[in-house]
Amino acid sequence: MIQQTLAIIKPDSVRNNYAGKILSLIVDHGFSIKAIKGVHMDTRDAQRFYGIHTGKPFFDKLVDFITSGPCIAMILEKENAVDDFRKLMGATDPNEAEGGTIRSLFAENKTANAIHGSDSSDNAFIECNFFFSIQERF
Ligand code: TYD
Repeated sequence: MIQQTLAIIKPDSVRNNYAGKILSLIVDHGFSIKAIKGVHMDTRDAQRFYGIHTGKPFFDKLVDFITSGPCIAMILEKENAVDDFRKLMGATDPNEAEGGTIRSLFAENKTANAIHGSDSSDNAFIECNFFFSIQERF
């Protein structure tokens, strides 16, 4: 089934100049980019986007990190996009991420971990709408 998922190249990747390499990996793995833009989230955006993690011990650090610089948000499309993109991302903690995954190659640590991808098709729908209007999609 053709699916869409929301991906974010996080501020550490942009700062470290890895955005180009990450985009190449994504396209080489068969994902089509259906929308793309630079976004610099403010605290309110970040608290809303990561609302499910409110109250967790890492929440404030996560909000500080994701607002620390510009990101690149994208809608990606392919067969089985949600699960396949999670596989390409690798585990949350780069020390546990499989070789060749984006996080094993580019993440700094468990918070500055290079990339976001939706974790279910329901969340993908919500997250794509969080960042992109219909007019912004190809
Ligand atoms: P989570 O949804 O568990 O991970 P993933 O991004 O792999 O789906 O957590 C969301 C983000 O919160 C994660 O990418 C980085 C941050 N985070 C921490 O900073 N510390 C932690 O211990 C965890 C679990 C997450």
